[in-house]
Amino acid sequence: MTGKKIALHGKPFELFLSEKEIASAVGRLAEEINRDFQGKEAVILGVLDGAFMLLADLLKKLEVSLTLELVKLKSYEGEQTTGEVKSLIGLSDELSGKHIVVVEDIIDTGITLKYLLGLLEEKKPASVSLATLLIKKEVFNDKFPVHYCGIAIPNRFVVGYGMDYDGHGRQLSQIYAAID
Ligand code: HPA
Ligand code: MG
Repeated sequence: MTGKKIALHGKPFELFLSEKEIASAVGRLAEEINRDFQGKEAVILGVLDGAFMLLADLLKKLEVSLTLELVKLKSYEGEQTTGEVKSLIGLSDELSGKHIVVVEDIIDTGITLKYLLGLLEEKKPASVSLATLLIKKEVFNDKFPVHYCGIAIPNRFVVGYGMDYDGHGRQLSQIYAAID
């Protein structure tokens, strides 16, 4: 779905994924997690800020026994990744022996996620799985396994549905891609 154009903070974007396409991807993620975690206790570990909208929609569709943990991990400045993790806030000490499902809005280089996975391993969980709404496969290059993938997208900068451009656009219910 393309056509509608918007500007955020002076930068042009075009409609890239509709609410319907997003909802069906979220539905698929929920089905797969429900199937794999039946009879288990899952810790859904949401990565803020970008995953907040996905988390709200995904959790309503999860039928497994779960608790929610939220962490904040930032490496993004505007449109360029710095590759440098600035801070991690909120990681629980109670993850030992737990089945963790990390929930991301988008995976591109995977650098910050790899750092988070390292920190999680130190907590001695029973298992760690990754779920993401979007993945930029060309950039990520299969650096490590991602168990639940919503939609693979080309290497374009996207906003909306929780994701931002310099803090703008998180509230959009559709996903827009930057026009170069
Ligand atoms: N948009 C917003 N945030 C992001 C992106 C993107 O394309 N990739 C990684 N974080
Ligand atoms: Mg994210």
